[in-house]
Amino acid sequence: MRIILFTGKGGVGKTTAAAGTAVMAARRGERTLVLSTDAAHSLADAFGVPIGSEPTEVETNLFVQQVDAQVRFERSWAEIQGYLLSVLAASGVDPITAEELTVIPGAEEVLALLELRTHALSGDWDVVIVDCAPTAETLRLLALPEALGWYMDRVFPMERRVVKALRPVLARAASVPMPHDSVFDAVERLHRDLEEVHEILTGKDSSVRLVLTPEMVVVAEARRSFTTLSLFGYRVDGVIANRVFPEAGADIWRKQWVAAQADVLGEVEQSFVGLPIWRSSYRPSEPVGVEELSAFAAAAYDDDDPLAVPTGEGPMTIRRTQTGATLRIALPFAVKSDIDLARHGDELVMTVGSYRRLFALPSALAKLTVAGARVEDGALQVRFKPALEETI
Ligand SMILES: Nc1ncnc2c1ncn2[C@@H]1O[C@H](COP(=O)(O)OP(=O)(O)OP(=O)(O)O)[C@@H](O)[C@H]1O
Ligand SMILES: [Mg+2]
Repeated sequence: MRIILFTGKGGVGKTTAAAGTAVMAARRGERTLVLSTDAAHSLADAFGVPIGSEPTEVETNLFVQQVDAQVRFERSWAEIQGYLLSVLAASGVDPITAEELTVIPGAEEVLALLELRTHALSGDWDVVIVDCAPTAETLRLLALPEALGWYMDRVFPMERRVVKALRPVLARAASVPMPHDSVFDAVERLHRDLEEVHEILTGKDSSVRLVLTPEMVVVAEARRSFTTLSLFGYRVDGVIANRVFPEAGADIWRKQWVAAQADVLGEVEQSFVGLPIWRSSYRPSEPVGVEELSAFAAAAYDDDDPLAVPTGEGPMTIRRTQTGATLRIALPFAVKSDIDLARHGDELVMTVGSYRRLFALPSALAKLTVAGARVEDGALQVRFKPALEETI
């Protein structure tokens, strides 16, 4: 099953590009599902038809789903939220404020991604296209399972045991309710499910497409997303430069725009070396409905295969050398001063800007020591060498 995610700054054309790509896939005979993690019903607007919270067939092989996080408030989350509410109630917070406090920003998108997992396991689809929320939120949420991994593996089981042991005592002494086993179960289940989503999304059949418009601020953000996505192991496989003004027949005003965009597009070429950059022109009207969307995508991809699985070096590779190994992590645009690297036991802690990544070293590398690291050709190269024999 091929999964393609579309992300980018607000309003650049993510939904349009995702929907257009889905139409192309369906018309090639692939059973295609396009779903949105967005609470706004923009897929319905793009297709120009009402869309339900279950996959709705728009034309042969093409299904569209507007995930309704409210309906699908996952059972795990309901359990956890129930507990949080009881704690807040015991602390004297009024019920309405408590409700508000237990709604986690981005939770809807997380739940939409859990829906993706269900679809992946169902085996019903050849292609799943995901129209993601604007850049920052998506990145944060995609990083969630990994960010929690360390806590879930080490601290959580311990806390669970402690709570279990102390519950009878504390229940009497403290006024705050202690979580029950079912709450811990729910947390664990949610974490496991999210981890599975993460695995699916970083797998070889999944990739992310960055949508941008030729404007400096938009491009700057797309570049940051590229680094962050790579850091978390997601494969970016192309850029869609949307709303490019056509040159032909331009008046003075448009000529100026054409020139300004040409400058920015030059920067786009430099920024995303090695990735296809698909250009899509500013159309005379909004591309709405399957025909318009199909024309939009066909013009953008030109002769390229929009479903091609990316090949070559992925975001992270490990190469064995004579004496040790080299770990290569693609980090486009990161410069050495941005990166902080630390080794904690069998883990490598990498910090790029405000993002941190814990990388569990494969056992073959964990036995070695870090001999050095450098940033070269858009990649962080960490060299490992055998640990020195201890001298007595
Ligand atoms: N190349 C284009 N030419 C003309 N109109 C376009 C083009 N691309 C997108 N649009 C229109 O611009 C608007 C925004 O596009 P779209 O909804 O795809 O952006 P988005 O990135 O999904 O936005 P949001 O961040 O709000 O989800 C829509 O009305 C869409 O029809
Ligand atoms: Mg959208």
